[in-house]
Amino acid sequence: MSETLIEAKNLPRHVAIIMDGNGRWAEQRALARTEGHRRGSDAVRRVVRAARRLGVEALTLFAFSEQNWARPRIEVQLLMSLLREFLVSERGEILDNGIRLRAIGDLARLPPEVRMVLDPLANDSAENGDMTLTLALSYGGREEIADAARDLARAVAAGQLDPEAITPELLQSRIASVAVGEPDLLIRTGGELRISNFLLWGAAYSELHFTKKLWPDFEAEDLYQAIGAYQSRERRFGLTGAQVKVLRSAQNDNESSMAPRAVQGLVQGVR
Ligand code: FPP
Repeated sequence: MSETLIEAKNLPRHVAIIMDGNGRWAEQRALARTEGHRRGSDAVRRVVRAARRLGVEALTLFAFSEQNWARPRIEVQLLMSLLREFLVSERGEILDNGIRLRAIGDLARLPPEVRMVLDPLANDSAENGDMTLTLALSYGGREEIADAARDLARAVAAGQLDPEAITPELLQSRIASVAVGEPDLLIRTGGELRISNFLLWGAAYSELHFTKKLWPDFEAEDLYQAIGAYQSRERRFGLTGAQVKVLRSAQNDNESSMAPRAVQGLVQGVR
């Protein structure tokens, strides 16, 4: 699938990727796992460029999980140094291309050498509005939901919040990964069919795309293919196909203002 065959008006706003398969890529070539990660960071560069060129508004990459700290020390060290290298080498391109870089996860656990380049880039790119690149670092979906719950519990304990006022929307407002909207399309490379504690809250209605391609082999073309597959699906958000049709035509006729508020939100989501 080529870039030109992608329907510009039905682009997923937020694409999230579980970049899996670096280790296997290296093992298949009798190389050290670390070499797979090295080639994996080249794939990150390619995909960030391709997403930006397409006009994707938010790209979230699972670069390091809370659970990855338990990997061999040498592998963790290499991943941290690749991350630092990426932030240093891509800084100019990120700033020049209107990309806002942000990080989510337990950032306090990251080594100072990473924070020294991550924090200034996040700061300096904060006003960029063409695409938000979110790196999930020391990230876990359950941990993120627990953090949000703790946040609300503190407000209740301080007498600032009535427990009855806790709604999914309020909890969501405390969840950093969805500050850029819920992922429309969640891609996982490497052939495994699971979510592995990534974006658990936001993925509730994401379209899932699994590919056997190992991450270091993932090309712009593979991103186009995933987006093409996404564009051929019908997103129903719990409604029936017939309801979705009615909502879509109401949207097209610009009559959606007659729909109740919650349904209007859905109409916007039904693309
Ligand atoms: C999973 O492959 C991948 C990771 C744990 C790390 C992802 C890191 C990168 C792509 C490179 C550095 C990141 C940036 C942002 C520059 P795996 O090791 O679990 O592969 P396997 O399942 O084949 O063993």
